[in-house]
Amino acid sequence: MNDLEKAREIITECDAALAAAFEKRMQAVADVARFKKENNLPVTDSGREKTVIEKSTGLISDPELKPYFGEFMRDAIEISKRFQRALNSSGSADRIPVNTPSGSYDIILEKGALARAGEYINLSRKVLVLTDEGVPAVYAETLASQCGEPYIYTVPQGEGSKSIEVWQKLLSFMLEKGFSRKDCVAAVGGGVVGDLAGFTASAYMRGIDFYNIPTTVLSQVDSSIGGKTAVNLDGIKNIVGAFCQPKAVIVDINTLVTLPGRQVSNGLAEALKAGLIADEKLFEIFESGDITAETEQIIRRSLCFKRNIVEQDEKETGIRKILNFGHTIGHGIESEEALNGLYHGECVALGMIPMCSPEVRERLVKVLKKLNLPVSIDFDIDTFSAAVRHDKKGGSGTVSAVVCEKIGTCEIREMTYDEIIGRAQMLRPAE
Ligand SMILES: NC(=O)c1ccc[n+]([C@@H]2O[C@H](COP(=O)([O-])OP(=O)(O)OC[C@H]3O[C@@H](n4cnc5c(N)ncnc54)[C@H](O)[C@@H]3O)[C@@H](O)[C@H]2O)c1
Repeated sequence: MNDLEKAREIITECDAALAAAFEKRMQAVADVARFKKENNLPVTDSGREKTVIEKSTGLISDPELKPYFGEFMRDAIEISKRFQRALNSSGSADRIPVNTPSGSYDIILEKGALARAGEYINLSRKVLVLTDEGVPAVYAETLASQCGEPYIYTVPQGEGSKSIEVWQKLLSFMLEKGFSRKDCVAAVGGGVVGDLAGFTASAYMRGIDFYNIPTTVLSQVDSSIGGKTAVNLDGIKNIVGAFCQPKAVIVDINTLVTLPGRQVSNGLAEALKAGLIADEKLFEIFESGDITAETEQIIRRSLCFKRNIVEQDEKETGIRKILNFGHTIGHGIESEEALNGLYHGECVALGMIPMCSPEVRERLVKVLKKLNLPVSIDFDIDTFSAAVRHDKKGGSGTVSAVVCEKIGTCEIREMTYDEIIGRAQMLRPAE
């Protein structure tokens, strides 16, 4: 027997021993899984994982082999967790698959999913948990407690955090903490945090994994999926950004219990938009259903609608434009945000009114009132028309506007800016 054959024989013997050890280990893992399920404990236990790796690596005498064995144990732990998840899977999570040319992922829709996030996504690494000061800290802490090496980063609440300066600080922070291409960013908050976290993940080392855990209605029904990420620059919203599809979106509607009522209605405006232009049944839930009791269904239907559109047109070259229904006039009003103090969804709510047929408008206004959303506004026409025309020169240009003549349908129509501005006049309160 030559040296090569001898070495191969030793490897075969070791593999047999490993197979026996693997079987024994996994039987014990199954017992742990059962215990965790009975006691409602998460599969991920980062403290214990660290100890296991340190202890087992300590058994290796050859210093050159220690890091390799550490890696071997990390893989073993990942496999064990996958096995535990499979054994404990209750199957209660509702998964909505999203398939786009640049990435496929699931939206996991489940009450209490935040506390079980580690069962759905890989948190056994460095995780930048991005949140803002207005989001109850316990949400980011719940996620962090499931991470291998968490770094909670809290930005001030509000649109001001969607800036190049904050984005740069985040990148520097990750560099300082030694984030590698294998690590990830997780957003825990509304659309502001989601847009900022996604853009940060898209840029760091040319793109690392990004998870979105939205905690506002607006982000749960709309902004968390579709891959649009951005910050604002020189007063222009979302002007610098990237398409970056998340690796997973976890929607836990239990997080909405702390959301102020006005923010709830603000987000529901985007769901109502989905109903108006594509899903009559969804519109009818708003019209005659118990909105609070049916929140989960509203979120699910809105997500499915947006998923269908994004799958057809990820980069907004065609049909995705319909998502801008209500936004042309809405953005014009929003540009005066500092003056009128309205939220994005409230501006969209107003922006939808002039873009409907009279019959649809009548039903829409009733629902908007039911949701305590605004139905009229006094605005400065010059500021408004400058914003609607945005940076286009002169007044002769046209814009692709979305109109709704019949509930559950819509069409894209080229409209002059003058026509858009003329239609917006109907939003002025009656004298
Ligand atoms: N990427 C997209 O496709 C897309 C789509 C629509 C909107 N957006 C962006 O989304 C942003 C608006 O998102 P938003 O409406 O979620 O606003 P937001 O992120 O500012 O959140 C609203 C407020 O609610 C607080 N909050 C969040 N979760 C909470 C919770 N569970 N309990 C209590 N308070 C909570 C936040 O601190 C904040 O003060 C805008 O920047 C907009 O441009 C992006």
